[in-house]
Amino acid sequence: MSEMNHSSPSAPQSPAQSPTQSLAQRGNNRSRQPTNEAFRDFIGSGWGPRPSDPPRRSDAAPWAQARRAALGALFPGERLVIPAGPLVTRNNDCDYRFRPHSAFAHLAGTGTDFEPDAVLVLDPLTVPGQRVEADEPTHEAVLYFRPRAPRTSEEFYADPRYGELWVGVRPSIEEVEAATGIRCAHIDTLGDALAKDAGADAVRLRVVAQADAAVTALVDRVRQAAGLATDQAARQADDALAEATSELRLVKDAWEVDQLQAAVDATKAGFDNLIRSIPRARGHWRGERVLEGAFGARAREEGNGLGYETIAAAGDHANTLHWINNDGPVEPGQLVLVDAGVEVDSLYTADVTRTIPVDGRFTTAQRRVYEAVLEAADAAFARAGEPGCRFRDVHTAAMEVIAARLQEWGLLPEGVTAADSLGPEGQYHRRWMVHGTSHHLGLDVHDCAQARREMSMDAELVPGMVFTIEPGLYFRADDLRVPAELRGTGVRIEDDVVVREDGRIDYLTAAIPRTADDVEAWVSGLIAQ
Ligand code: GLY
Ligand code: MN
Ligand code: MN
Repeated sequence: MSEMNHSSPSAPQSPAQSPTQSLAQRGNNRSRQPTNEAFRDFIGSGWGPRPSDPPRRSDAAPWAQARRAALGALFPGERLVIPAGPLVTRNNDCDYRFRPHSAFAHLAGTGTDFEPDAVLVLDPLTVPGQRVEADEPTHEAVLYFRPRAPRTSEEFYADPRYGELWVGVRPSIEEVEAATGIRCAHIDTLGDALAKDAGADAVRLRVVAQADAAVTALVDRVRQAAGLATDQAARQADDALAEATSELRLVKDAWEVDQLQAAVDATKAGFDNLIRSIPRARGHWRGERVLEGAFGARAREEGNGLGYETIAAAGDHANTLHWINNDGPVEPGQLVLVDAGVEVDSLYTADVTRTIPVDGRFTTAQRRVYEAVLEAADAAFARAGEPGCRFRDVHTAAMEVIAARLQEWGLLPEGVTAADSLGPEGQYHRRWMVHGTSHHLGLDVHDCAQARREMSMDAELVPGMVFTIEPGLYFRADDLRVPAELRGTGVRIEDDVVVREDGRIDYLTAAIPRTADDVEAWVSGLIAQ
């Protein structure tokens, strides 16, 4: 942060000398801006006109409109409140970069940086119980946010969260209406809008309660004033809305699939960059951080950033599933497991793992593990393409291969076959792969997490689903049940796939090398060994 933010140095005061000031007031001890009228007139004047280019309609707008219609049809006659969420404090008066709640991003069709504290409301066009025809609109969307203030306002220069001189020119009501196709209103009118016609025999409200505690509290106040329940029943109603927004994302539309492909393509560029950085990583005391940084640089250049914290795990670190410290060296002879994904500006993310030999060549033992994991991944992919495949069958297919290979290598307990292990009383093979094989992928890396089980794990695959296939085998350095040559070896191969309209499964990650030979060629093509 620039020192310009801080007040000019003055002689330090002892605690006894410091003027009375509550801790809350001290949260921001930076210089105070002048507020006198002459200064306000001066700073608010003498600016050229704003660019007059007409704002462009976002290409996400029609898709988001269809998503809102689908959600509204589930809750006719009810007011649905979907907050973007607030800025989150990192420390003191410094916030994390803003990322809206995924339900908001999905339904508003807005991506990067739009717009702290905004709230999307689907206002009912019908009364509860009214019959609605299939293609009849059930709700009108209204987007509440804080539009930019005029240059003559104090906000313009004095508000570090919203002021134009601090965070840049923010949009006007008209601009957001043009970009989203949604009617917009000032956030200050939200309370009255939520309260309008609210009541037990009139309009009931539901809110995506996890997105913004302040908006949830506001909805509860409105409910209370209108004589509506605010207890368990209200929370259940809210949970049903959150569940519906999650389930709505189980099937991606064509625009979303394009975004996910773009995220994967950017991720490929990130992996290329990371491989090029291997020679530097090998010579660095925290080589894993060199790899992480090389990927992260591309993620910021090509997209909004990372979809989740990068795992760059060399050697035995690969056996810690969520190794995000990335503070170890990268040594000759090791494999490095990299699990990384670029989140593009629309906020869709890839989720890709490749396990890469640091020297560009797998050893015989490493290749044996790698080939087994690849075989499991291929089996899962093949099963996914079979008619009637349920989401959880994909995992089963991968586990059949993993259990078979572990039996072949003599790692299952004495007298236990792969078939025994696959039964509910067995599962011994899971010692070496405790995670699942697949999860939905989209705006969240673990997308659709609030969907009901029967809509996700137990459901048949349908066109538009995008998910990962990511089997692995993890042999820890201190695992006395595996032969010494395998200890310290961890392998995961993670691809992103889409179910096409005809039921065919396609890799979104087809351009990212995945067989052992192709990975070796990839490394040697990017690094002169
Ligand atoms: N990167 C998190 C996962 O693979 O699920
Ligand atoms: Mn994953
Ligand atoms: Mn992953």
